[in-house]
Amino acid sequence: MTEIADHLIGAGGKRVRPVVTLLAYRACGGETIADAVDVAVALELIHSASLLHDDIIDENDVRRGRDSARRKYGIAHTLVAGDFLFSRAFQICGRFDAEQINWAAEACVSLTEGEIMQSRFRNNPAVTIEDYLEIVYRKTASLFEQGARISASLAKPSPPELVDAVADCARHVGLTFQIVDDVLDVTADEEQLGKPVGLDVREGNPSLPIVLAIADDAEMAELFAKPDLSEGEVSAILGRLRRSKVIDEGQRLAVEHSRHAHDALSRLPESPYRESLHALIEQLITRVG
Ligand code: FPP
Ligand code: MG
Repeated sequence: MTEIADHLIGAGGKRVRPVVTLLAYRACGGETIADAVDVAVALELIHSASLLHDDIIDENDVRRGRDSARRKYGIAHTLVAGDFLFSRAFQICGRFDAEQINWAAEACVSLTEGEIMQSRFRNNPAVTIEDYLEIVYRKTASLFEQGARISASLAKPSPPELVDAVADCARHVGLTFQIVDDVLDVTADEEQLGKPVGLDVREGNPSLPIVLAIADDAEMAELFAKPDLSEGEVSAILGRLRRSKVIDEGQRLAVEHSRHAHDALSRLPESPYRESLHALIEQLITRVG
């Protein structure tokens, strides 16, 4: 199981969740960095567990520029390695207060709900932008939000409302991150992305460019409803999405959430850590892979 976990974790990843967690702690005046490191590690382990399971669900062959664990080690071992990481994460969380453990558990419940909502809307043109935002909040933003909430509360800031400010910021960071991720699935290239381009289109996922496109393009809605697209159809959809206004619209929505994240941060006192969070938010909306 350690080998499987190392295969995924050793491949890197952006590690944006732990960065946000650590900066949230410092921006709230926390000084015992080991506490924040525990939260950051637990969060990244939960995220890693969810990716192992996600690659089984989505039948992905490539993750972080390598064969996915599912492809290399098979479904059974990958599934159990995910359970292993998830259990280790909660072993770390065990040293926190009941309320903080509950926040971590809430984030995990959200992840599972997001995953199920997403699969309910797979190849389903009834999906709306409101459904999309609900999915993205649950499958991505909730873990950012609760991670920041736990680490900020460990810092015991004064006034305590700073915990909500940094959690609000992290929620919008998570939304921005996933919106950009969805746009990159259409606009990036495989080398930058570390996984094939157009996966969401191929899998019939209700990703942002698709949800926006099917709202006023009946032909696109019909293609989205079709499972098992041919490679030609996938390329045609990607070309059509790239030429349409949905890419700009998606980018605009990402910028809107990044502004909310900046606004929430301005409720915190000035510090180098707050400035690093501002800089991170700007990096998110300009990333290319
Ligand atoms: C990747 O999204 C997947 C997630 C963010 C969450 C997946 C959640 C589960 C599988 C539920 C299991 C939860 C726990 C707590 C173990 P994506 O498919 O949009 O991204 P990708 O293109 O990188 O695969
Ligand atoms: Mg996936």
